[in-house]
Amino acid sequence: MSKKIFLSGVQPSGKPHIGNYFGAMKQFVDLQNEHDGYVFIADYHALHSLRNPKEMSENIKNVVLDYLALGLDPQKVTFFKQSDISEHTELAWIFETITTMPYLMRAHAFKDAQARNKEIDVGTFNYPMLMAADILLYSPDVVPVGADQKQHVEIARDTAEKFNNTFGETFKLPEAMIIKDVAIIPGTDGRKMSKSYNNTIPLFAEYEEIKKCVMSIVTDSSGGIPKNVYAIHKLFRSEDELKKIYEEKAGKYKELKEMLIDDLEKFIAPLRERRKEFAKDIPKVLAILKAGSEKAKKVASAKMNEVREKIGVQVY
Ligand code: ADP
Ligand code: TRP
Repeated sequence: MSKKIFLSGVQPSGKPHIGNYFGAMKQFVDLQNEHDGYVFIADYHALHSLRNPKEMSENIKNVVLDYLALGLDPQKVTFFKQSDISEHTELAWIFETITTMPYLMRAHAFKDAQARNKEIDVGTFNYPMLMAADILLYSPDVVPVGADQKQHVEIARDTAEKFNNTFGETFKLPEAMIIKDVAIIPGTDGRKMSKSYNNTIPLFAEYEEIKKCVMSIVTDSSGGIPKNVYAIHKLFRSEDELKKIYEEKAGKYKELKEMLIDDLEKFIAPLRERRKEFAKDIPKVLAILKAGSEKAKKVASAKMNEVREKIGVQVY
C-alpha cells in the first residue's frame, strides 16, 4: 500500500522559538517517517505583513536552515518554495471565480481583521483561496495545521467539492490533521511564548542567550515550586522525575534554573551545531530548496493541465 501524503506550509516569519518547535515544527518533521509529504515556504502568504525585500530573502534562507537542522529529509519530503510554482496563484484565480464574497466573509482571519478595524487588503480577503490552491495542487490526504488554520482547510475542501461538482471529479478532498494541543508553552513571563510578546527562548539560541532567557523567567510559585520554570522544564524530563527534583529543591530557584539551563543546552546544542554546519554552505542549501521546487513543479503543472482541460481553455 502506498504511504499517505501530508502537506503543510510555513510562513517565513523570523526566528523560531521552542514553543513553535514543540507546537508545530517537530510534528512536521516526525510525520516524514510514516508519510510522503510536501512542506513549503509560504512566501507569497507572508507578503501581507512582510514588505521588506531584504528581510524576506533572509527569512526564506533561515526557514530552510531551520528545517534542515531539525532533520527534515529532502529525500522523504518535497521541500519547496511557493513563489517558485506559479500554478498556486493561477489556480487561486480559478477558485476565486467559483467562490462568493459572503462565503469568504465568514472566514475567521477576515472577521478578525474586520473586528480590529484594519484596512483589509484584497490578498487577506482572498487568502483562503490561495491556501486552497496550495493544498489541492498536490492531492494530499492530510494537512497538519494548528487549530487556528482548521477553517482554511475546510474552505479548501468546500472549494474542491464545488469545482468537482461544476467541472467533474478533479480534486481529492483533504482532511485537516489538527496538531495535538501540546499544552501551550509559556514564555519567560508566564504568558504564551510568542514572538510578539518578546518572551521566547529561541530554538537555536547560543548558551549565553539560553542562560539570559532562563534567568529572566518570572518565578511565581506555590509551595516553593516556580511554575513557569517547571512548565518549560517538563518538555525535557518526565514529570515523575521532575516532581521529585522540584520538591527536594523547593524554594531554590537559582539551582532549578541552572538545571533547566543545562537541560536546554543539551537539547539545543546539537541542533544549533547542525544549523551552523548547513549555514557554512548557503548555495548548497538553496540548491536543496530549488531541487524541491523542481519536483513540486512537475506535480503542480500536471494538475494544472488537468484543470485547464476540465474548464475548457485547452484548445490546442
Ligand atoms: P508566534 O506566536 O511566536 O508568532 P506563530 O503564530 O508564528 O508563533 O506560530 C507558529 C506555530 O507554532 C503555530 O502552529 C502555533 O500553534 C505554534 N506555537 C506558537 N507558539 C506556541 C506556544 N507557545 N506553544 C505551543 N505552540 C505554539
Ligand atoms: N496559513 C498557514 C499559516 O499561517 C500557512 C499555510 C499556507 C498553509 N498555505 C498552507 C498551511 C497550506 C497548510 C497548508 O500558518
